[in-house]
Amino acid sequence: MARRRLARRQSMTKRVHSIAVIAGDGIGKEVIPAGIAALEAAMRGTGAELSFTELPWGCEYYGQCGRMMDRDGFERLATFDAIYLGAIGSPTVPDHIAVWDLLLPLRQRFQQYVNLRPMRLLPGLSSPLANRGPADIDMICVRENSEGEYAGLGGRLHVGTPHEVAEQTGLFTRHGIERIVRYGFETASRRPRQLLASATKSNALRHSMVLWDEVTESVAAAYPSVTLRKYHVDALAARMISHPQTLDVIVCSNLFGDILTDIGSALSGSLGIAPGANINPERDYPSMFEPIHGSAPDIAGKGVANPIGAIWAGAQMLDHLGHRDAHDRVVGAIERVIASGRSRTPDLGGQGTTRELGDAISSEI
Ligand code: NAI
Ligand code: MG
Repeated sequence: MARRRLARRQSMTKRVHSIAVIAGDGIGKEVIPAGIAALEAAMRGTGAELSFTELPWGCEYYGQCGRMMDRDGFERLATFDAIYLGAIGSPTVPDHIAVWDLLLPLRQRFQQYVNLRPMRLLPGLSSPLANRGPADIDMICVRENSEGEYAGLGGRLHVGTPHEVAEQTGLFTRHGIERIVRYGFETASRRPRQLLASATKSNALRHSMVLWDEVTESVAAAYPSVTLRKYHVDALAARMISHPQTLDVIVCSNLFGDILTDIGSALSGSLGIAPGANINPERDYPSMFEPIHGSAPDIAGKGVANPIGAIWAGAQMLDHLGHRDAHDRVVGAIERVIASGRSRTPDLGGQGTTRELGDAISSEI
């Protein structure tokens, strides 16, 4: 492990970065090729390159093999510098199997405890909120990604009988809260507003969220330049709608972040735009980059999915691999193509296809 960790740290200065690609299901298969094309364009001329290895895992694979991924899947993935993921999920496989056989264990096993999700209204797009522009909606969510409500603990008893019971236990550790809150403060301290909102619910969740608040307060002492505000998550959800301009970095638990980032992506004009990075900051394991949307069975196969979430997540991957310039080139190209109105997919009110929008972004890069 120490050797792998060293290799991954050095991967920031490597000439070839090895990327495992799991396009997955539904529109995952449509948006990932657009992402790969954009990333290759962005790396051209940098002296470094990406080497992609496609892995056929997901629900279709489950249909053939009865498993979401190979038995040695984690061991194989651990050898890569990063993982690029489309989406997992299909009407043919129960969601809790699809998610628990691949996605959540991956985030946990590889200690990808930071889920970093920008929520930003790009110039040229309109938000569903009236009279709000890009200056009002520019937030980033730092979501706990390894424990909390999605720890997976619990069980069912007396299944199928009238007194059937299900228990789902949230698990919060001081260590887990401290590392995510610290990452939240670090993120806030690098942004101009130096503003951190902590999502809590310590009025009702009197054990887990009280610990959350206590740990947050104790970490805050090390970041005197950052203004910390504490909001109950329900009020924070409302605030994202009514006063989005008052929010910058949001740090929150796993479930809260899942919900708040769907609100944030809707405020940004479309779920199809929002990117997400699952980061293991210590680089002991590969980090994973994916659009936040799912496999969208309702539009899958039509070639009209918005590829921006996948392309932007790919840009986050370049940043993580040490190529901040290439990241900026990709995000800049997304911004210019959107601002020009050149190509828009139906979710953005246009008639363009995944390929047209993807090609427009790649050639802009
Ligand atoms: P979803 O994100 O797939 O779709 C929600 C709505 O947004 C749909 O109307 C869809 O057409 C639209 N949409 C999503 N991405 C879009 C894009 N790129 N361009 C245009 N429109 C887009 O969420 P849903 O329907 O709840 O889940 C569908 C499947 O995906 C389920 O099996 C679910 O478990 C899975 N899922 C997987 C995730 C992952 O792999 N990380 C995340 C969320 C859901
Ligand atoms: Mg979600």
